[in-house]
Amino acid sequence: MILDGKKTAENLMKKVAEEVASIKETLSLGLILVGNNPASLVYVRNKQRACNDVGINVENYFFDENVTQKEILKTIDQCNKNPNIHGILVQLPLPSHLDETMIINSIDPDKDIDGLTLVNQGKLFNSMETIHPATPKGVMTLLQKYFIEISGKNVVVIGRSKLVGKPLAMLLLQKNATVTIAHSRTTNLKEVTKKADILVVAIGKPNFITADMVKKDAVVVDVGINKVEGKVVGDVNFNEVKEVASYITPVPKGVGPMTIASLLENIIICYKIQKSKRN
Ligand code: GUN
Repeated sequence: MILDGKKTAENLMKKVAEEVASIKETLSLGLILVGNNPASLVYVRNKQRACNDVGINVENYFFDENVTQKEILKTIDQCNKNPNIHGILVQLPLPSHLDETMIINSIDPDKDIDGLTLVNQGKLFNSMETIHPATPKGVMTLLQKYFIEISGKNVVVIGRSKLVGKPLAMLLLQKNATVTIAHSRTTNLKEVTKKADILVVAIGKPNFITADMVKKDAVVVDVGINKVEGKVVGDVNFNEVKEVASYITPVPKGVGPMTIASLLENIIICYKIQKSKRN
């Protein structure tokens, strides 16, 4: 069975749009992009479009590849201080001359819609209420919408990034899964993936997971977005694995739209946190 991220995300977007309409102020996102990494340009365009669709304003801060650290920090400081900007997003990756950790951590944690500041990561690590990174949040919501049991299950996450693998492992642990994080140095990967009741793949290698690596009736979630001969494909060989899996996300129309919808939800959460501190 297909885990329909597109349809699920559309329903979430409707709810977000209603909530945005009920808020008297105009919600605004400060969107910072450096350079012209082709994947980042696509992601940023999708985020702009989604904001537009639900009535969230976007302030674009687009910089040339060789912008200075100081200039970025100044922009973030201005966004932090601007009460009319409710969320700040720095599109990653940044060019190597910029200090990504320092830049991300200059964002006011209450405006950190990606949940990537050390403060919000620390809260997640401690199971405190906080803003969850959009992709893991979208994956969790999708599993929940399809009533997929997580407690006690063997969940294997392939990928250990701060955007996906690590925060997703934390969220799964909170739901009492037995979590394994595998990655590019894992030996005998197939032995590990074969044990997964739920397999989440975020490694950026097109069609990498084949049917022989998946346990019968496993739930397979594909976070990959790869371009092969002009076509977007995931990290999972969909046509093969769909015959073995009980549930599987397609690419496109799987995790991607869930990420975007989750990001929009995070903007509303950030707005509410800021409002509660104003009153
Ligand atoms: N680059 C790829 N995915 C993401 C994301 O979710 N957030 C940010 N800021 N950059 C990304």
